[in-house]
Amino acid sequence: MSELSEKLIGWYDRHRRVLPWREDPTPYHVWVSEIMLQQTRVEAVKGYYTRFLEAFPDVHALAEASEGGLLKLWQGLGYYSRARNLQKAAKQLVQERKGKIPATLEELKRLPGIGAYTAGAIASIAFGQPVIAPDGNAYRIFSRLEREQGFLEDRKTKERLEERMRLEMDTRRPGAFNQALMDLGSLICVANGQPLCPTCPLRAFCAVSNREDASQFPRRRPKKPRQMENKTVVVMQRGDRLLLHQRPSKGLLAGLWLFPMFDGHLTQKEVLLQLLEEGICRKDIQKIETLEPATHIFSHLEWHMIGYRVTLSPLSDVPCDRNRAFSDQENFSHRADAVHEADEESFETLQLENKTFWADPDEIANRFAIPAAHRPFFVER
Ligand code: ADE
Repeated sequence: MSELSEKLIGWYDRHRRVLPWREDPTPYHVWVSEIMLQQTRVEAVKGYYTRFLEAFPDVHALAEASEGGLLKLWQGLGYYSRARNLQKAAKQLVQERKGKIPATLEELKRLPGIGAYTAGAIASIAFGQPVIAPDGNAYRIFSRLEREQGFLEDRKTKERLEERMRLEMDTRRPGAFNQALMDLGSLICVANGQPLCPTCPLRAFCAVSNREDASQFPRRRPKKPRQMENKTVVVMQRGDRLLLHQRPSKGLLAGLWLFPMFDGHLTQKEVLLQLLEEGICRKDIQKIETLEPATHIFSHLEWHMIGYRVTLSPLSDVPCDRNRAFSDQENFSHRADAVHEADEESFETLQLENKTFWADPDEIANRFAIPAAHRPFFVER
């Protein structure tokens, strides 16, 4: 074991964080926690992790979960494709390996949602394989140790740092080595602000220790500014039902159900014109109210949203000449039946076939996870 590794693991044994997924690090537990921890803070994950395991205690339970139930448990964590990929992988494992999670990097990386970092974390923490798990913490720590001058966005820079991690890795306790880097990165060699060098167990090995520019590492390529988009959200209400619209199956918030939304900031009059365009009858519209604006920030994009609530007469007895999605009563009742019949397995088919749906409060509470971006416009009544 290298001297650096010895110091690091010694520190970890004294200071490691107590975290629910560390109590019983089975492959399934480590896998679920690592997927949840992608792009999400440890504190935010703890509660979700516990509830998720209660609902889906093993690979088989996860494979059999309804998509609605799964997304509901994920609601608020964001990046919903992670939940879908988890289930896709679980189904694949049940079909191909009787639900057994593989131990090698290559096999792990073949599963949906598992990249180099996650594969390394599962292989090392759950199976004791001597492989690195290069997350942001590990890259930050090693770029500081080395005073690495390359931009972290460059493949070559990452490869250099990974090579050094492999050299230092403690092959007897690879899981502890990788998790020690995570904890050191979170508690001492922090991402924001000055690292706490005087208390760092690796200070004797570090090229930036106690230097003013320590926090300038890793060097980052200057970022493009986030794209801003103005949007208008329309909460359509008919009786106690709200109209939901499904996002396309690819791209941002893929396949999720949001309120109808238009590009740009529209005035009440412009919204009204859009609704008439969609086939809503003028006589059917009882009221349009302005809602509080909201902003949602994605990693590369910001939605600056204004909103309106449009109340329609509870039951449309006004035949409309056009037969568009928003007003098509027959189609709606047909869809409503479809949802009631669509029990767990057929829910997926239903989602693929339908683009709009009038959901009642129970369906909104139990079947549709309204993404965080639109939750400010949803008021439970
Ligand atoms: N972040 C990602 N994986 C983690 C883990 N296993 N422990 C602590 N923080 C983490």
